[in-house]
Amino acid sequence: MKYIPYANTNKLASRISFGGWQLGNNEFWGEMTHSEGVELVKQAYTKGITLFDTAPGYSGGESEKIIGEALHAVREKVIINSKIGHKANGLTDFSVNSMKEQIKDSLARLNTDYLDSVVLHNPGMEILSGNSGHFIELEKLKNEGLIRAYGVSIDTHRELLEVLNKTDVQVVEILFNVFFQSPLSLFDVAKTKGITLIIKVPLDSGWLSGKYNEFSSFDGIRSRWDKPTIERRAYLVNKMKQITNDDNLTKYAISFILSFDSITSVITGIKNFKQLQENINAESFILNDEIKNELLKLYDEEIKDQPLQW
Ligand SMILES: NC(=O)c1ccc[n+]([C@@H]2O[C@H](COP(=O)([O-])OP(=O)(O)OC[C@H]3O[C@@H](n4cnc5c(N)ncnc54)[C@H](OP(=O)(O)O)[C@@H]3O)[C@@H](O)[C@H]2O)c1
Repeated sequence: MKYIPYANTNKLASRISFGGWQLGNNEFWGEMTHSEGVELVKQAYTKGITLFDTAPGYSGGESEKIIGEALHAVREKVIINSKIGHKANGLTDFSVNSMKEQIKDSLARLNTDYLDSVVLHNPGMEILSGNSGHFIELEKLKNEGLIRAYGVSIDTHRELLEVLNKTDVQVVEILFNVFFQSPLSLFDVAKTKGITLIIKVPLDSGWLSGKYNEFSSFDGIRSRWDKPTIERRAYLVNKMKQITNDDNLTKYAISFILSFDSITSVITGIKNFKQLQENINAESFILNDEIKNELLKLYDEEIKDQPLQW
C-alpha cells in the first residue's frame, strides 16, 4: 500500500481508504450489525488502511460509534475524517454557531478528543463562496485543537472551482469516478494549492464493480434510480467491459482514479471482508495507458454532454 501525507496532520493516508457510510447502515445499505462493523474496520486497519471517512448522519451516528470503538487503541496511527451539516438526529444544520457543538458530538461518538479533519457535508454555494464565516470559525476550532484540518465534501466541477478560487481549505472530498469525470480538469490546481483530495463514490455506488446489469433492482439509498437510469448505467458498464475485456471492473475503476497523482486517497464504501480485500488489491494493479485513455474517451463520448445523476 502506498501512503501520502494527509493535509497538515503529520500523518500518512493510505491510497485506498475506508468509506464509513455502510457501517451498521441497515436503512440505506443492507444488513450489518454493530459488531460486524467493528470487525470490518479493525480488519481494514490491520490490512494497511489508515484513513476512515464517516459522518454524524451515517446511520444516525452508528458509523462514528463503530469507527471510534474499532480504532480507539490505534487512534494516533489513523486519520478520521468526519462531517458537519447533517446531524445524527437527521436534522440539517449548517449554522456557523452550531459547528463547535456538532464537532464535539462527533468526538463523543468517536471516543476521541480531536478530528484529523472535518468537512462541511455538501454545503450550498453561499458557503463555498467563502464569505459566510464558516471557514473563519473552522480556523478557530483548528487553533483550539478540536480539528487538525478542514474542508468540504462536494460533487461538481462548479463547486470545486468556487472552493479553489475563494477558500483556503486543506481537504476536499469530491465525487469522481469513470462515469463522473467533470472535476478532473481542476485536480492539478488543487494539487498546486497543496490540497488533500479524497475521492468519494469511486465505484458509482457499486455499478463500477461490473456486477449489476439492466435487470438489477435496488432498495435503500439506491432505490432513487428509475428504470431508464438503470438501463443507461448497464449500457455504460457493458461498454467498460468491452474496453477492459473483463467482467469484474473493480480494479480498473479504482486504479483509474489512483492513476491521477493529484489524488491523495480513494474512499471505497465497503460492506464485507471480500470487498475490503478486493478494493485493497486494486491499489497494486497498474492500469495500462491504452485502457485509461479509452475510459477517458468513454466519458467524453457517452456521458459528458448528458451527465448521469448520482
Ligand atoms: N456527501 C458525501 O460526503 C458522501 C456521499 C457519498 C459517499 N461518501 C463517502 O464515500 C464513501 C464511498 O462512496 P459510496 O459508498 O457511496 O459509493 P462506492 O464506494 O462507489 O460504492 C460502494 C458500494 O459498492 C459495492 N462494492 C464495494 N466494493 C465492492 C467490490 N469490491 N465488489 C463489488 N461491489 C463492491 C458495495 O455495495 P453492494 O455490494 O451492495 O453493491 C458498496 O456499498 C462512502 O462510504 C462515504 O464514506 C460521502
